[in-house]
Amino acid sequence: MCGIIAGVSAEEIAPTLIEGLKRVEYRGYDSAGVATIHDGVIELRKDVGRVGDLERLQKVSEMQGEVGMAHTRWATHGGVTKENAHPHVSCHGEVAVIHNGIIENYLELKQRLAKKGHVFTSETDTEVIAHLLEEAYGQSKDPLEATLKAIKPLVGQYALVVMFRDHPGTLVGARNDAPLIIGVGKKELFLASDVLAFISRTDLAVFLENKEVAELTHRGYKVFNTRGAEVKKKVIQLAWELSDVSKLDYAHYTLKEIHEQPETVARAMVQRPESLAAFAEAIRDAGSVILTASGSSYHAALLLRSRLSKDAKIRCDAVLAGEFDEHEHFVDKDTVMVVFSQSGETADLLNAVKAGRRSGAKVLAVVNAAGSSLARESDGVLLLNCGPEVGVAATKSFTSQVMVGNLIADAVVGRDTVGDARKVAAQVSQALESEKAIRKVAEELSGRTDFYFIARGSRYAVAQEGALKLKELAYVHAEGMPASELKHGTLALIEKGTPVVVIAHSRDGFSNTISNAMELQARGAEIIGISDKEDPVFKHFIRVPQAADSVVPILEVIPLQLLAYFMATELKNDPDYPRNLAKSVTVR
Ligand code: G6P
Repeated sequence: MCGIIAGVSAEEIAPTLIEGLKRVEYRGYDSAGVATIHDGVIELRKDVGRVGDLERLQKVSEMQGEVGMAHTRWATHGGVTKENAHPHVSCHGEVAVIHNGIIENYLELKQRLAKKGHVFTSETDTEVIAHLLEEAYGQSKDPLEATLKAIKPLVGQYALVVMFRDHPGTLVGARNDAPLIIGVGKKELFLASDVLAFISRTDLAVFLENKEVAELTHRGYKVFNTRGAEVKKKVIQLAWELSDVSKLDYAHYTLKEIHEQPETVARAMVQRPESLAAFAEAIRDAGSVILTASGSSYHAALLLRSRLSKDAKIRCDAVLAGEFDEHEHFVDKDTVMVVFSQSGETADLLNAVKAGRRSGAKVLAVVNAAGSSLARESDGVLLLNCGPEVGVAATKSFTSQVMVGNLIADAVVGRDTVGDARKVAAQVSQALESEKAIRKVAEELSGRTDFYFIARGSRYAVAQEGALKLKELAYVHAEGMPASELKHGTLALIEKGTPVVVIAHSRDGFSNTISNAMELQARGAEIIGISDKEDPVFKHFIRVPQAADSVVPILEVIPLQLLAYFMATELKNDPDYPRNLAKSVTVR
């Protein structure tokens, strides 16, 4: 987690760093810091809170210097304090470092360094890197050599950038299992954890691979392997539309992204027929199929599992990426892994991909970020094309994943279940018309502390996604569960006024689900019906537009996204940046 941007420029760098840092704030936002080199010293400003707070209180964009680094943190080692915020500097202020990842052997390194007299001022794993660099720099006085030496003993994940007081025109970056990308501008160079950080300045990027080290100076950039030999790298042209990350007139990115769905779902339907055919062929010919993902992406994988199972009669597992170890022994060279991810950088997921590859599996990715590690490490890729998703909770990326999952299932079966993109977009727009009604429900229920979401069959994934959104955005306890399981325990929790969201479709187990809703109502529950068909058991009713079976889950989840959003705003939470969370979970 954590967002990084650093730059070497011919002009004052701080304003550019702050603008870029705001764009990677989705990666963590509990504290932030900036360091620049000016007049022979490393100037450092950092504190707890958001980038905007740092700018307001410490005027960071007025810091002087043409070389600098900035960081926004998601705490792993050490609490949310000013001392633990990055950048971290060495004992004598010669070296400053920012880091994303986890140094697993930091305690051992810390003890060794402390014995040598290094004084630590934070509880972070990152600070050991600053002291290791100081040691190494003391010997060679060369930034590149010092960095190559300092990263040698590190075990774990890192994307790090280093600045040396006595080399005011140099930045060095290194990566291992965490993204670090060089942005190549005309008069400036960047190192960042996401291209979004520098896309407004340049659309040319160089993606570092694991164990590569980059040196940036006013003269240009060079990339080296761990032995110090130069590596030739390809410059990639990025899509400029990535820079379109404004909120427009919406109060929050999350609301804007929910409203983008008519367009983004339709865009997800535009896939190259050859790519879909290749996915379908691989799945059909596979000895076994494993779908894997985390968070909301996992719920999209569950929906594909259901379609492959019911429609294509293909038995497959949907496995949480973080639990992949439990399934690794089933994977062999005849296995096809279909991996869902918005960011393509989720650490658990990349670990699962690595494990799958070791066993010879073919990896197919459904991903939004085209330049991500997942996209680059897969045998086949289908892109979501939903544009940057800024809100930490997945919304438009989820519905795009469901749609791409549908296209994959359709290609496997050889049947088009989704139909015309314009028609689907119109149905999604219609689903968004529930906004007013949902807002009223949110106003009424915003004081309740426990919510249940029930559904049958494949809709269970929709129930889970609805509950996850509510937890993430409103911070209320929510559980998604199969309606059939209620009487095996959860009914004991139902009291007068407990809100239960019932997702029921007239063509899929409607009467059984309604019976369950009645059992709940008899025990005092307040039923919120998400359905294409009204029923007297619903105290609140949100109508789902008519659509093809495979499109219906997309339409059902939209009111649930809106419910979570309006509950969050009722409760005065920031829906774009929920507490304790980060959008791209790059630690395991
Ligand atoms: C985080 C995000 C979720 C997302 C999950 C998986 O928890 O907050 O919205 O669903 O990571 O991320 P991915 O980028 O792999 O889809």
